[in-house]
Amino acid sequence: MRKINVAVVGASGMVGGELLELLESRRFPVGEFYPFNSGKKPASVFFRGKKYACAAPSFGSLKRAGIVFFVSTDEVAGKFAPRLAAAGTWCIDDSSRFRLEPGVPLVIPEVNGAELKPVKKLIAGPNCTLTGAAVALAGIHRKFRVTELRLATYQAVSGAGRAAMGRLEEELKAHFKKAAAPKLKDGKFPRPIAFNLFPQVGGFDAEGHSVEENKVEAELKKIWGDKKIRISSTAVRVPVLRGHSLAVWFKLARPCSEAELKKELLRTPGLKFFAKPEDYPTPLENGLRTKIVYAGRLRRAKTAANEFQLWIVSDNLYKGAALNSVQIAERIAGL
Ligand SMILES: NC(=O)c1ccc[n+]([C@@H]2O[C@H](COP(=O)([O-])OP(=O)(O)OC[C@H]3O[C@@H](n4cnc5c(N)ncnc54)[C@H](OP(=O)(O)O)[C@@H]3O)[C@@H](O)[C@H]2O)c1
Repeated sequence: MRKINVAVVGASGMVGGELLELLESRRFPVGEFYPFNSGKKPASVFFRGKKYACAAPSFGSLKRAGIVFFVSTDEVAGKFAPRLAAAGTWCIDDSSRFRLEPGVPLVIPEVNGAELKPVKKLIAGPNCTLTGAAVALAGIHRKFRVTELRLATYQAVSGAGRAAMGRLEEELKAHFKKAAAPKLKDGKFPRPIAFNLFPQVGGFDAEGHSVEENKVEAELKKIWGDKKIRISSTAVRVPVLRGHSLAVWFKLARPCSEAELKKELLRTPGLKFFAKPEDYPTPLENGLRTKIVYAGRLRRAKTAANEFQLWIVSDNLYKGAALNSVQIAERIAGL
């Protein structure tokens, strides 16, 4: 395969680190490699055994790449990606800046990979929370049509970046040293996270829904190409380091049996479904550097006819971010 020069904006971050490791382990045909960070503090990364210093990005420095991965902030993606894409550079953005922009494909390759087209050079990867549901229920939605979806999310701290992971570790250390919990000065979380959880991921809108809950709804509708489906969620941050879990309730347009759903789940691409109730996945066992989504505990809900429940776990940093981006790059490399 022909080599492609690759830039990673946010190479020193949580997702950036995973992305570099995946480009290497999956033998993506990287030619020249250009890592970037904010430039505010010195940072270096290792790639294919070589140490690279990160620098602040500029249009000229990014233009040298054939593919630019944006794993930094909405602002940085907004500043560079549209201009680069217009100039013919593939841009794969993991921030939320362009996810809902009309004309920008929001892609999970095994769900809607057909959205990838040579003329659409700017591609967005979805929020890490909905990825599990989008993959796990894709086949069921296609075949039986999900009309309503309710979710309770149990989101790992790494979903909020490296500093947030450090925050949990700091609070835990203080607890075991019997020291006072550190002050919430960095603004990463609204409440203490060690031995706690809170139903807030992002700020709240006028109706009281959080940013994360609104993202789950809007992005899932876009990925499944279905504006009619009704989605409501409660997003909860939990003291898990890595791996997001979801409890979902989904209503179907027509009656169907549990056996029919099991059959569909067992053949859904990118999903490992555990049919035995006691074989359910957990973030510690199934959310750490795992390349697929896991689901279990399928059962008929007691609240309505044609309503079922499922438990879903996925790695927020892999399938929820870095791996999904690399899979997009693998597809576009072949276009
Ligand atoms: N964590 C997840 O589970 C997850 C999942 C899906 C999507 N995402 C998205 O992926 C992106 C990265 O998240 P993360 O968790 O990896 O965050 P992170 O650990 O905080 O890393 C952020 C990275 O962006 C860089 N950066 C910040 N400002 C920059 C600027 N002005 N110019 C260039 N680089 C800059 C940082 O460099 P410095 O160290 O120099 O500041 C760092 O390398 C975010 O948009 C996030 O929403 C994250």
